[in-house]
Amino acid sequence: MKKAFKKKTKTQATTLPGDITHAQKIERMIRVDHAGECGAQRIYAGQLAVLGNSKSAKTIAHMARQEDTHLAAFEKLIVDKNVRPSALHPLWHIAGYALGYATASLGEKAAMACTVAVEEVIDEHYAAQLKQLGDNEPTLRKTIAQFRAEEIEHKQIGLNHKAEDLPYYSVLRAVIRAGSKTAIWLSERV
Ligand SMILES: [Fe+2]
Ligand SMILES: [Fe+2]
Repeated sequence: MKKAFKKKTKTQATTLPGDITHAQKIERMIRVDHAGECGAQRIYAGQLAVLGNSKSAKTIAHMARQEDTHLAAFEKLIVDKNVRPSALHPLWHIAGYALGYATASLGEKAAMACTVAVEEVIDEHYAAQLKQLGDNEPTLRKTIAQFRAEEIEHKQIGLNHKAEDLPYYSVLRAVIRAGSKTAIWLSERV
């Protein structure tokens, strides 16, 4: 009994009335990551619809395939851990595609600027989650760490494709960053 109490307090030591529990934190993480990976997959699908025959098509398809893997992993976690998906999931499905399609329509550099902006927010988001997890949930930690490394690779691909040369790069980046952060905040809660 004493041992069980000790074990419980280790993960919930800082839980105060009104705070969410460790289990709820994990559910939130899976919910938001599932929504985010859906959005990312749809961004690259939208980009490919426009740039499927361009010189960057192969590179975008490579990133799209990695997003497929990321999404599949979180879809499995949603089922295995019985987590409610974000109620806004259908919105991210449409908004992700629209964002990818719209930026690609502005040209390859705009598509790559979108990639940089989104992926840097996801990188920061996954870094924050890893910090929050600490030594807990080693399997989830490993998944997030692997995906984070690939999101960083995507961001670097965008930079290598001269995203920053886009004349309105700063504005587009700021707008997409703000939108992505809002989507994350909402998906954790709704
Ligand atoms: Fe991803
Ligand atoms: Fe990515």
